[in-house]
Amino acid sequence: MPEPTGLKFETLPDEIRQSSAIGAQIQLPTGMPILEPENLTETDKKTLQQALFENQVIVIRKQKGIDATVLPKLAKIFDKSASDIHSAGEKAVSDPKNILSAYKAGRHPKAPQVGIIGSGKFQDYEGLKEIEVVHLDHTLFHESPLTKEELDDGYTRPYRWHMDTPFYERLPGEVTILHSIRIPNVPDQKIKFPDGKEKQIGAGATAFFSGARAFALLSPDEQEFALNTTVTYAPQAYEYIRQCKASEDGLTIPTMGREVAVEELSEWSWDKVAEHPMVWRNPLNPERPFLQVHGCCVYKLSTRNPTTGEITIMNDVEQVRNKIYSMQRKIYAAENIYAHRWEEGDLVIFHNRGVMHSITGQLAKYKEEEDKKRMLWQCTMTSTSAPKPFREYEGVNDTGYVKA
Ligand SMILES: [Fe+2]
Repeated sequence: MPEPTGLKFETLPDEIRQSSAIGAQIQLPTGMPILEPENLTETDKKTLQQALFENQVIVIRKQKGIDATVLPKLAKIFDKSASDIHSAGEKAVSDPKNILSAYKAGRHPKAPQVGIIGSGKFQDYEGLKEIEVVHLDHTLFHESPLTKEELDDGYTRPYRWHMDTPFYERLPGEVTILHSIRIPNVPDQKIKFPDGKEKQIGAGATAFFSGARAFALLSPDEQEFALNTTVTYAPQAYEYIRQCKASEDGLTIPTMGREVAVEELSEWSWDKVAEHPMVWRNPLNPERPFLQVHGCCVYKLSTRNPTTGEITIMNDVEQVRNKIYSMQRKIYAAENIYAHRWEEGDLVIFHNRGVMHSITGQLAKYKEEEDKKRMLWQCTMTSTSAPKPFREYEGVNDTGYVKA
C-alpha cells in the first residue's frame, strides 16, 4: 500500500509558465479524488494558500461532479472575509445596463454565489428548464475589430482585462473559482502580439497576467509613481463605459466620446465609488508589489509626493487612461501571458487581487453546434475587507471607497 499523502503542488512546466510568473497544479490528498474542503487538514489548507499566493493561478484537474456548493467553501480558505454575495450582486442580472446581462449570465440553482457562463443554449440543466449563455463577440468589442480574414484564420484577442469586481458598492474578492462543465470542440486559436510573436491557445482559453510581473516591468520612476498613487474608478464604472470599445490588446479604451454622461448614470454616490491604491500587498507574499489597475474603468489619479506630502491630481479621463496604458502595456507579450487551456472538469482558482484576466476566443459563431457549446461555473464573492496598499503612509486610503 502506498503511503497516504497530503495535498501537494507543483509549478507548471517552464515552457508553459515562460515569464508569466503564473501557474501551479494541485495534487489532492490520497483518497480524495474530488475536492472536499471540510476534509482538508490545516497543513493541506496552508499548502493550498501558498500555492495560490505564490503562483496566482492554480489548477485542479478532473473535478467533474463536484457540487456547486463546494465552490464558496473553497473560496473561504483563501479569503476569511468573503461574504456569501456574488460580486455581481445577490441575484442574476437582468438589468440591461450591466455587462453580465449582456452575457446572459445565470446563477446555479443550488448556489447563488456561482454564476453560469459560456456559449450556447442548454436544456434541463440542474433544474433549469433552459439556460442560454452568450460569449462575447469579436466583431462588436474592439475599436478596430479583427478582419474577416483574421477571423477565418483563427485569430482571437483578449476582450478586456479586468479583475472580478464592479468597482461600485462591492469590494473585489480575493479569489475567483472557475469550473469547466463543457469544453467546445473547436480547433486552437491564436493571438498576435505587437512584437510580431504569436501565441497558440485553446479555443476559449482564459488569459491571465500577473500584477507582480506588471510592476517589475515598470521603470524605477514609474514604480515610484505607482507606489504613491491612488486610483479612483468611474462612478458606476461599467455603466459609464458600457458603449465604449477596447483597444486591440484589451487593456484600455483608446478613444473618448462614448462614455455615458455622469448625470445620466443610475443613481450613485461618491461613498460607494471604488478607490484603491495602485499597488497592492499580497497577504502571503508581502514583499512582492502587485500593480492592480483596471485600465478601462479608471477615472482619476491622486499622487502623493512622499517628501512634502503634497497631492497631485490627474482627473482628465483620457489622460488617466493614457498614463495607465503606458505602464500596463509593457506586460502585453506572449511570454508574459498565461492562457489556461481548458479540460473538462478543471477547477481553476485565481488570485483576483494578484492578476488581471480576460476572456479570449471566437465561439459565438459556433453556438448552435452541440459539440461546440461551452459552459463554465464562476464563483466570485465580494469581500468585506479592502485590498491593502503596498506602501503605507499617513492618510493612505485603504477603505476601498472614496472617502466622504
Ligand atoms: Fe472575470
